[in-house]
Amino acid sequence: MAYSEKVMDHFANPRNVGEIENADGIGEVGNSKCGDIMKMYIQVENDIITDVKFKTFGCGAAIATSSMATEMIKGKSINDALKLTNKAVMEALDGLPPVKVHCSVLAEQAIKAAISDYYKRKGIDPEPFVGKVPECDECGCNL
Ligand code: FES
Repeated sequence: MAYSEKVMDHFANPRNVGEIENADGIGEVGNSKCGDIMKMYIQVENDIITDVKFKTFGCGAAIATSSMATEMIKGKSINDALKLTNKAVMEALDGLPPVKVHCSVLAEQAIKAAISDYYKRKGIDPEPFVGKVPECDECGCNL
């Protein structure tokens, strides 16, 4: 399995790792098949994601995609962040081996889950904006 240089770089030196104290939104998603988990924290000011951090307990491809995804939504509006697809993250990483494509889905879902949490904290129903986001306890990973 060959990884691109960008994947190896983001895996070896992931950007935005950690957590945000008093985050405005926190999303946690898991992959029921492999058991990997991703947690994403966002800070939002005037609808702009001013800071984002993540923690991924998972494979190298999941770490690389979360790292790239956080770079791609930092400084963006909530609306733009919601448009980020796993395909765009993969392209930014110069591709992933086919068996690792599902790992990039975690990053997209974690962003959506964090934004969904942000809306909920504001007392707004997130579903019209974010769609249905799988909750962690629905994914079967038991964490
Ligand atoms: Fe689980 Fe990659 S193998 S996210």
